[in-house]
Amino acid sequence: MNSQFGLYSLWAYSSFIYMIKKISFFLFFLALGNAIAQPSYNFGDEKYRPNMGQSGKDVIWIPTGNELVTQMLKTANVGPADLVYDLGAGDGKIAIAAAKDFGARAVGIEYNADMAALGQRNAERAGVANRVKIIQGDIFKEDFSMATVVTLYLLPELNFQLRPTILKMKPGTRVVSHAFDMGDWQPDAEIDTPARGYFWVVPANVAGEWVLNSFDSQGATVLNLSQKFQYVGGNITLGKKTQPILNPKLMGDTLLFSYTDNDNNLRSVRLKFDDAKAKGEENSTYMVREFSGFRR
Ligand SMILES: C[S@@+](CC[C@H](N)C(=O)[O-])C[C@H]1O[C@@H](n2cnc3c(N)ncnc32)[C@H](O)[C@@H]1O
Repeated sequence: MNSQFGLYSLWAYSSFIYMIKKISFFLFFLALGNAIAQPSYNFGDEKYRPNMGQSGKDVIWIPTGNELVTQMLKTANVGPADLVYDLGAGDGKIAIAAAKDFGARAVGIEYNADMAALGQRNAERAGVANRVKIIQGDIFKEDFSMATVVTLYLLPELNFQLRPTILKMKPGTRVVSHAFDMGDWQPDAEIDTPARGYFWVVPANVAGEWVLNSFDSQGATVLNLSQKFQYVGGNITLGKKTQPILNPKLMGDTLLFSYTDNDNNLRSVRLKFDDAKAKGEENSTYMVREFSGFRR
């Protein structure tokens, strides 16, 4: 009896907390939307008029304010060579801005069919329908692996669910999220105004042992790397001497680090990874030397 009552109270308590969380997110989104949405923004057309805060499959609809849209796309350094995917596209405004203001191609994935159709009409009205597609689909089912930039305005748990898929994308893919982070994957940059945003670059998977050819005249050079997301540490073995690599910085598929050679000169290395292969160049005061490597 007691344990049944205990289970019941636990269930009631967790339902209560779940409800409070949902209500807080709704209020948070609403406050944020109100604070930053432009008053002149046209919510819908004669065919479909969405309501701010209306429910969506996994998250409600609140549009990102114009200023933050620009800031997000600027932070991701979007340009004509990019293919931007907005996951949960709403009325298409991020995809449209990516094409209209930054010259990119863009795809918005939106679950609500009326909203997706509105987004496509908005793209036509903005004169960018040749570069923007707003498709009806589920962000957890559609393939967005070809994106060079991914934009998000979802929820923390949805970002977290998408994280493994995003981390498998091509190294160097840029990701920018309105309001919500990615758990313990620290952002590479943050946006503070006009609202909070987070920016990441998908890191290459570089952990392991790498053999570098023609790096050092004293024999094989071995680079041992450990990694958590974009943070890398490790050591380099030249001949018989092993030393930690200095100031390692991984940006997408490129790792920069320094080490000291046998004459105590500081040398800088740039290594570009491509799956199990690497190409590099080493800079010293007098020369630039190229070399290649492979994962052992
Ligand atoms: C907070 S709004 C963001 C809209 C737009 N990205 C922006 O920033 O202005 C989230 C959107 O995601 C859509 N959505 C919710 N769950 C989805 C899912 N599983 N797949 C695709 N879209 C979804 C909602 O209908 C809503 O339009």
